[in-house]
Amino acid sequence: MSNASSRPLRTVRIEANEPEASLLQEAADILRSGGLVVFPTETVYGLGADATDPEAVARIFQVKGRPPDNPLIVHVADAAAVGTVAENIPDVAHRFMARFWPGPLTLVMPAHPALPRIVTAGLDTVAVRSPAHPVAQALLAAARVPLAAPSANRSGMPSPTRAEHVLADFQDQGEAIGVLLDAGPCTIGVESTVLDLTSEPPVVLRLGRVAPEQLNEVTPVTVHTHARGAAVAPGTSVASPGMKHRHYAPLTPLWLYEGPGAGERLQAAEDQARRAGSRLALIVTEETAREQGFQGAHVSALGSRDDPETWAHELFHALRRLDQKVDRILVEGIPEKGLGAAVMDRLRRAAREVH
Ligand code: TXA
Ligand code: MG
Repeated sequence: MSNASSRPLRTVRIEANEPEASLLQEAADILRSGGLVVFPTETVYGLGADATDPEAVARIFQVKGRPPDNPLIVHVADAAAVGTVAENIPDVAHRFMARFWPGPLTLVMPAHPALPRIVTAGLDTVAVRSPAHPVAQALLAAARVPLAAPSANRSGMPSPTRAEHVLADFQDQGEAIGVLLDAGPCTIGVESTVLDLTSEPPVVLRLGRVAPEQLNEVTPVTVHTHARGAAVAPGTSVASPGMKHRHYAPLTPLWLYEGPGAGERLQAAEDQARRAGSRLALIVTEETAREQGFQGAHVSALGSRDDPETWAHELFHALRRLDQKVDRILVEGIPEKGLGAAVMDRLRRAAREVH
């Protein structure tokens, strides 16, 4: 696997709640000298660079194979640090920050003129969030620069919720990435909610742990139609450039079964596949696993249909675990309530077919 220019990605274990100061200092030094660091957040692992250093940010796009028109989220320690990357911060932004930061809410605002436009993919807006994970917070404090950080996966792959997922994508990128800080599994498991504050009323561009109902308590928001996993036709103009790219998809074709009777249809599909001799993996609710009598190593019951938190926590891990082990992955949908809406958005984007 290795060649002359490849070096294994160096991984260090870090204590999630009391991160070792020496490790943080080392990672901060890498960032301050233009290098890349993979760090944990409460949502997914991020691939970070100093957001004020255009060459460091360019390396993020290179390593991920990310399309240059897809802007990055800038991570800051707190609301007080937003002024270094954004300007004309709307009043409503302060109310959202006071309520949800640090945490899984990203706010889109007018970008500061000094922020390199490679971060925003040329846009005059910037997406900013303050992550709640103690390691991310301690790293921001040690680095003393805002960190541009997309999810630490190769572009298009499911986001990494464990260090092993990052290694699967970037194991020979030790040349480009200084260090991977492994603090164990991320607690939430799907990416942050993205809320665009530059339109009136604010519009949710990506669903996440902070649900529209919670945002409505601050000010009424709308949800972009594309935030529910609807496909975007090529050539269509979209509010968030990330929407138009295929996402979260395992290499093995994923078929999503939604709506009433999904359990029965999964059962029929399984029977048919068995007769055809193809290998399937099923990801289903605990209820369907029981009702349909599915059993065996190829069935993963992720959680109850009323437990979207567990689904969010386990989903990307399940997709990566099953990828390239079978001919097809069949997944049962869950109700679009609370975090269930974010889970369904990710599943629809990952799906080759929806049944
Ligand atoms: O939970 C998260 O948000 C994780 C962790 C690492 O913080 N990060 C993450 O980044 O998911 P990424 O790059 O995988 O997704 C960023 C999303 C993309 O859909 C992108 O298009 C959108 O945010 N975005 C970034 N800047 C934007 C802007 N100025 N306007 C609209 N959308 C923007
Ligand atoms: Mg991503």
